[in-house]
Amino acid sequence: KHFQQDTGRLTGKKVVITAGPTQERIDPVRFFTNHSSGKMGYALAQAVKEYGGQVTLISGPTSLTPPAGVKVVNVESAEEMYEAVMNHFDQADIVIKAAAVADYRPKETFDQKRKKQPGEWSIEMERTMDILKTLGEQKSSQLLVGFAAESEQVEMYARNKLESKNLDLIVANNILQEGAGFKSDTNIIMTIASDGTKKEYPMLSKDEVAYRILDDIISYAQRRDV
Ligand code: CTP
Ligand code: CA
Repeated sequence: KHFQQDTGRLTGKKVVITAGPTQERIDPVRFFTNHSSGKMGYALAQAVKEYGGQVTLISGPTSLTPPAGVKVVNVESAEEMYEAVMNHFDQADIVIKAAAVADYRPKETFDQKRKKQPGEWSIEMERTMDILKTLGEQKSSQLLVGFAAESEQVEMYARNKLESKNLDLIVANNILQEGAGFKSDTNIIMTIASDGTKKEYPMLSKDEVAYRILDDIISYAQRRDV
C-alpha cells in the first residue's frame, strides 16, 4: 500500500478521526467535561477530504459544523466514543485521536435530577477506558496517531505516550503556551514518529496544522513501506 502524492495523497484511504470533548453524565442536568472545542479534529477531517480520503468523524459535543462529505458519528461519553471507534477500527487505514477523552467519570449516575441537600456533596470518580491504548494493543496494519496535550515537560510525556500506547505518530502541544490552547484557532505542535523523526512547527492556524500532521503521517508511511 503506497500513499500518493499531492491532492490525491490519501485517495482510497479510510481515515477515522475523533474530535471534541466527552461529557460524563452525573444526572439529567449535570456532567463533567473539558475545554476541547473540536477545532483540531474538524480541521483534520477537512484536510483528509481535500487529500481525497474517506473520513469517519467520531465527535463529542461541539458547536462546529462538520465538513461536507464526511460521515459523522456523534457521541457523548468516553464509553460511547470507545464503542464507535471500535466499530470502525477494522476497516480503517489511519486513526487520528484528536478528541479530549475524559479520564474519569462519576461512579454513580442518577436518573432523576439530584436535589440539593445541606452540607457537602462528594462525587466518587472511576477511570474510563483508554481508547487509544486499546487500539495500540489491537492494531494490525492501521496507522495510529495520538495527541498529547501537556502543560509541562511536553516532549518527555509525548514520547512516553508514543511508546506506551504503541502509536505510529504523536502530536504534542503545550496547552499553556500562548496560541496553542484548547479554544484557540491556532496551535503550536511538535510531531514525533515511532522511527524517531521529530518535527517542530511555529504557530499556525489549526487548518494549516492539520495539513502538516497529514504530511508527517504520509511521510512516515512512505518511510515505513520502502
Ligand atoms: N485518549 C483515549 N482515551 C482516553 C484518554 C486519552 O483515547 N481515555 C487518547 C487521546 O485522544 C489522545 C491521547 O490518548 O490522543 C493522549 O491523551 P492525554 O489525555 O494527553 O493522555 P493520557 O494517556 O490520558 O494521560 P494524562 O491525561 O494523564 O496525561
Ligand atoms: Ca487524559
